Amino acid sequence: MVDHANIMVVDDEQIVRDLLVDALTDKGHTVHACHSGRQALEAISANGYDLVLLDIGLPDMDGFHTMAGIIEKSPDTPVIMITGDATIESAVGALKSGAYDYLRKPFQLELLHKTTSNALEFKRLDKARRESEAALRESEERFRELVENSLIGICIIQNNRIIYQNPEQRRFYGTLAEKPLNKLVSYVHPDDLEKIIEAYHQLVAVDNGSVEAHFRFFPSGARGKDAEFRWVQCRASLFQYQGEEAILVNAMDITRSKELEHILRVKSKMISLGRVAAGIAHEIRNPLTGINSYLYTMEDLLSLEELGSEDLQVMKQIVEQMHVASNRIESVIKRVLDFSRPGAPTMALMNANAPMEDAMKLSAVTLRKKEIQIKASLEEKLPKCYGDAHLIEQVILNLIDNAVKAMEIKDNSKVLRLRTFSKNNGVYLVVSDTGSGIPAGIREKIFDPFFTTETDGSGIGLAICQRIINDHGGNIKVGGNRWGGATFTIELPIEKRVDSR
Ligand SMILES: Nc1ncnc2c1ncn2[C@@H]1O[C@H](COP(=O)(O)OP(=O)(O)OP(=O)(O)O)[C@@H](O)[C@H]1O
Ligand SMILES: [Mg+2]
Repeated sequence: MVDHANIMVVDDEQIVRDLLVDALTDKGHTVHACHSGRQALEAISANGYDLVLLDIGLPDMDGFHTMAGIIEKSPDTPVIMITGDATIESAVGALKSGAYDYLRKPFQLELLHKTTSNALEFKRLDKARRESEAALRESEERFRELVENSLIGICIIQNNRIIYQNPEQRRFYGTLAEKPLNKLVSYVHPDDLEKIIEAYHQLVAVDNGSVEAHFRFFPSGARGKDAEFRWVQCRASLFQYQGEEAILVNAMDITRSKELEHILRVKSKMISLGRVAAGIAHEIRNPLTGINSYLYTMEDLLSLEELGSEDLQVMKQIVEQMHVASNRIESVIKRVLDFSRPGAPTMALMNANAPMEDAMKLSAVTLRKKEIQIKASLEEKLPKCYGDAHLIEQVILNLIDNAVKAMEIKDNSKVLRLRTFSKNNGVYLVVSDTGSGIPAGIREKIFDPFFTTETDGSGIGLAICQRIINDHGGNIKVGGNRWGGATFTIELPIEKRVDSR
């Protein structure tokens, strides 16, 4: 409802004018009256009105011409025509000329008020409609600009066809619009096709779902051995477009970042290769230096004219030392090979308590000799998991070996704790000691090949452990414990099966 309006009354008859002005003013409107068409048009241009009541029969120009002028000057102002002519033609003529409604003289005041209030309500609603249409147009325009200028390729798929591509999408993929989806198969790298089809099925299976995938794409549409492809990261989501289900696809060219990723991977491989090579060189150089100096001593002895029994004794010792040194080289090479080509795990369902117990038995004598007490707490109903029991035993032996070395140098009560338990989807194997512990600063490094703090260590034990556990799809972590020693925790997944390599 409109309470106050600015209304113009145009009638050449004084009585009618006064009547209309009084009646409308009584209703709280502001009313401006004039008696000719020209006067009315001038006032409308100057002021603008919410409503015009216009007599058809004016002295200077008839109501229809005045009506045309009003539409031209103020198209949003509704006009109610007042006609003295009782014929239906004049009423139709009034409406045809663009009037909102008409009143036939003589009219009841009640009808006047009803018609004016309808016209004012119509104007209010019409204004609101135009404003919301303009707002909608503006937001559509803004949205279109955003999409058209986006650096991300955007397209819409409906009924298995691409029905819209933004410029970036066209630039990157070429014009694909209107091509049925199955014709686009040749654009996707064959190795990625299954992934894309699976993502598509996943998307349409869930309401309002969205999926992400990255794949290789041949912009030319021609796959082939040497064809150039680009890497694409895309997200697809379902939405309603023009009343029907559609898929909105955002896609980004990630070829450059894939290339950088590759370069970084190669670089880090080269760095670790360098570190491994330096480690091997270092490990072999020490015993080799020994062998060389023994050889010099042997040469000196052999250059003597006669060898006494003492000399022969020295030579015997030298040969023994050379054996030790060459065994050392042999063992370094074996461990390096173990690390780079660990035996292929033969995965089978196993109870992880078994390798724990076997490792314990094998180390029992050494531990007793070194006065190390064993405390084992193995979960009775430990769920089975997939793994190679032999390799897991090797890992536990390596951890025990380290624990023994760490406890040897500390003069306290020496206890090795072995524990197994299960939690969530994992089986856990824990080896704790009361040794020297591992300073936080080197915890990150201890799994690196050739990192060692031992004078006679090769630093490869933990690297092998990590490699084996990773091959099992599990992980190995190190921490401290309340006895000041180190605690190694291995997690093996219960369900995940890692295929034998
Ligand atoms: N239980 C432990 N307590 C304290 N330090 C440890 C423990 N286990 C490992 N470390 C530290 O981690 C380093 C690396 O261990 P790793 O088993 O890889 O090599 P290593 O024992 O030195 O030589 P090896 O190749 O003979 O095993 C050790 O030199 C030691 O500094
Ligand atoms: Mg070790």
